[in-house]
Amino acid sequence: MKRILITGGAGFIGSHLCERLLSEGNEVICLDNYFTGSKQNIIHLLDNHNFELIRHDITMPVYIEVDEIYNLACPASPVHYQYNGIKTIKTSVMGAINTLGIAKRTKSKILQASTSEVYGDPEVHPQPEDYRGNVNVLGSRACYDEGKRCAETLFMNYHTQNKVRIKIARIFNTYGPRMRLNDGRVIPAFIGQVLRGENLTVFGDGSQTRSFCYVDDQIEGLYRLLMSDYVEPVNIGTPEEIAIIDFAKEIIKLTDANQKIIYKPLPQDDPLQRRPDITRAREILGWKPKVSREEGMRKTYEYFKSLSKEELFKSAHKDFSNHNR
Ligand SMILES: NC(=O)c1ccc[n+]([C@@H]2O[C@H](COP(=O)([O-])OP(=O)(O)OC[C@H]3O[C@@H](n4cnc5c(N)ncnc54)[C@H](O)[C@@H]3O)[C@@H](O)[C@H]2O)c1
Repeated sequence: MKRILITGGAGFIGSHLCERLLSEGNEVICLDNYFTGSKQNIIHLLDNHNFELIRHDITMPVYIEVDEIYNLACPASPVHYQYNGIKTIKTSVMGAINTLGIAKRTKSKILQASTSEVYGDPEVHPQPEDYRGNVNVLGSRACYDEGKRCAETLFMNYHTQNKVRIKIARIFNTYGPRMRLNDGRVIPAFIGQVLRGENLTVFGDGSQTRSFCYVDDQIEGLYRLLMSDYVEPVNIGTPEEIAIIDFAKEIIKLTDANQKIIYKPLPQDDPLQRRPDITRAREILGWKPKVSREEGMRKTYEYFKSLSKEELFKSAHKDFSNHNR
C-alpha cells in the first residue's frame, strides 16, 4: 500500500484519479482549496478509511509524508484561470515548488499535470513533445500557459539538480462526468445549451479543431506515466481530431436536439488546431485511448442530464472572493 498525495484532487480529473488509486488499494490524500473543485466530486469517497481530505492552498507549503504525488492543482478552463491570472501563476509556480519540495524531502515520485497549452497556438501539427510551442507571453491565456511552462522547467531542474523522480504529463482536452457545466469549455458549453434549449454557439467559422480524450483513458495514461521511469514530457490525449462545427452537429444528433448553430467572433489567442502526437505514450507507456467519442459523450451527457435545474442555470462566476490572494 502506498500513500499518495493528489493536489487538486476534488476537481474533475483529480476526483477520478482519487477513485482509481483507492481502487488499487492505496491510501489517498486529496488536497484542494475548492476554487474550481468541490466536495461533491469526492463525497462518495469520504467513508473510505484510506481516503483523507485536506483543505489547503498549494501556494503555501505543506508537510506530508508520501510515496507518490500527482500535482493537479490549478484551474483548467479559461473562464476560471483568467478570473485571477496572478493567482493562477502562483498556483502553478508556487504549487510546483511546494510539491517538488515534498518530493525531494520524502524521495517520492512526482507527476506534474502539464498541458497542451504549453504549445500555445502551434505551428507544428500534430504536436510532438519536442515542439517548443508558440505562446503569446502577454496574451490573455499566458497566466496559464506560462505558469505551466515554468512549472515544467522547475520539475526538470529538481530532477537534474536534486535527482527528484519527476514525470511530466502534457494533458490534452479531457472530458467526462464531473466537468463543470458552466466553465466555458466546448463540451459542457454545448451540452448545457442543449439541456437549456438554447442554440449552440460556435466561435469563428467552426473550422478550428480539437481532440477530446475521455477521462478514464486520461487517468490510465497518468497512472502508467507515474509508474514508468521516464523523465521527459509525455503527451496524453486523443489524436483523433474534429472541427468544432462538426462536433456541434454530432452533439445535436447524439442528443436528438433540434437547436440551431449560431456563430460568434473567435476569442483572442484561441488555438486553431490541437492534436497530440502520441507516439511517445504508445512506445514508452504502451498507452493509447480506448473509449470512442460516441461512448464517452454518451456517458458525459447522462451525467449532465442528472444535474439539477439550479446547476444547469448557474453562472460560472460563483463567489470567488475568498480566492483573491
Ligand atoms: N481537463 C483538461 O482538459 C486539462 C487539460 C490540460 C491540463 N489539465 C490539467 O489537469 C489538472 C486538473 O484539471 P481539471 O480539468 O480536473 O480541472 P479542475 O479545475 O476541475 O481541477 C483543478 C483542481 O485544483 C484545485 N485548485 C486550484 N487552485 C488550487 C490551489 N491554489 N491550491 C489547491 N487546490 C487548487 C481546484 O479547486 C480543483 O479542484 C490541472 O492542473 C489542469 O491544468 C487539464
